[in-house]
Amino acid sequence: MGARVIIVSNRVAVPDSPRTPLAGGMAVAVKAALKNRKGMWFGWSGKVSDEPVETSQAVEVNKVTYVLIDLSKSDIQEYYNGLANSVLWPTLHYRVDLQEYSRADASGYMRVNRMFADRLGALLNEDDVVWVHDYHLMLLGRELRSRGHRNRIGFFLHTPCAPPDILQTLPQHKEILGGLTYYDLVGFQTENDRENFAHYLTTIGAAQVRGGVFEIGSRKVRLGAFPVSIESKAYMRLARNAGRSALVALVRESLGGSRLVLGVDRLDYSKGIPDRVKAFERLLENNPEWRGRVTLLQITPKSRSDVKQYGEIESEVTGLIGKVNGQFGDAAWTPIRYVNRSYSRTVLAGLYRAADVAMVTPLRDGMNLVAKEYLAAQDPEDPGVLVLSEFAGAAKELDRALIVNPHETDAVAAALKRALEMPLAERRERHAPMVAHLLENDIRKWAEDYLAALVEGAPARNLLAGIRALFGVSSDQAPFAIR
Ligand code: F6P
Repeated sequence: MGARVIIVSNRVAVPDSPRTPLAGGMAVAVKAALKNRKGMWFGWSGKVSDEPVETSQAVEVNKVTYVLIDLSKSDIQEYYNGLANSVLWPTLHYRVDLQEYSRADASGYMRVNRMFADRLGALLNEDDVVWVHDYHLMLLGRELRSRGHRNRIGFFLHTPCAPPDILQTLPQHKEILGGLTYYDLVGFQTENDRENFAHYLTTIGAAQVRGGVFEIGSRKVRLGAFPVSIESKAYMRLARNAGRSALVALVRESLGGSRLVLGVDRLDYSKGIPDRVKAFERLLENNPEWRGRVTLLQITPKSRSDVKQYGEIESEVTGLIGKVNGQFGDAAWTPIRYVNRSYSRTVLAGLYRAADVAMVTPLRDGMNLVAKEYLAAQDPEDPGVLVLSEFAGAAKELDRALIVNPHETDAVAAALKRALEMPLAERRERHAPMVAHLLENDIRKWAEDYLAALVEGAPARNLLAGIRALFGVSSDQAPFAIR
């Protein structure tokens, strides 16, 4: 049997049917990674059960095998709500103040990582290439190694990576973050994230660096930056068609000529929604001529609702939006429309195309694919304007957006005014190079670059066979240059 690519992540998005468009960045990324390859996506079924079934459930859709496992209530509480989302998530997003650590949660995290290794290990072939995603599964590589698996195993962190001074506030950081050194390749969104972790390994982890390889005892790990992207071409097509949909027409009509500013984020404190609302309020305060002529549509599906900090951000956002609407709204105009639900990929693409401005202003974000999707969704003849936080990974690539510091309310309000008033020639001139960049650097390239780098470091005797099997090419066809 040839090499398969095995994707592992906490959440698995099984398409309802072969025709349903894929939702979510991770689902699109997995699709790209498995394109033209044999593969499997392994992870949590999303079901919580007090007696999880011992055997994994497998389904096949569009030639991808999805293997799902259930988790118990205590697994969810300790591993997902606990260590992953109350400790690792805030720490990786530079929010040490929001960490809520407990030993019980840490041992639940380790237990679930071991369970993933047991279940996945039973399904692995020797030449499978394993690609693990995100902070929920930092210890999976170590657990697979301790069970004797010698496969190529890589890890990709979708979140930011904070600098060493912040990482070391994480209790048990040597064990948890040190777990990443059992992988062959650890991928990050940006060079900055990569450097932060490299610095952590060399200072706190006492790693030696030889030829770009970080050595800790007998372990050898490589680090790289691989900015995640979108299916650029397909998304442009989707938005062109969705822009003509009935729902988008209805939204436009309901605005009655008012300009549309759009925000789309999970309800998460890292997204900077309160700061954005304050900036919008400042725009209305400072520029009375815009009152009644601009509407912020904030689409914010609730997220991780069992985690305390998420309940708090919900009350804060609701209170702030109520205040702005009460102060500036009138019977015929609501300044901010706030919607706690998610929309299909198609509807969102249509709304992006209809929006004059997108505000993507997180306080800290690994990448933020809303920024990339918004640009891809625009009509190139009459594009909207992206206002983008300098603290989103996407800002490193999308440098013709209006880049802002989300903490500086006046500056964000001024950028918003500038975006609303920007002449067509400038909008086009900013939009074109960013879209060209997205077409060249799409999700397929991301997956190919990562997998090529993962296989590249394989022991010499397996290298060529591994690459050929992985990329499905015969011995005389090189898929790309090996750097
Ligand atoms: O990296 C963040 C991430 O894992 C994204 O890939 C995804 O959009 C989001 O978090 C989903 O969070 P959750 O599974 O907790 O709802």
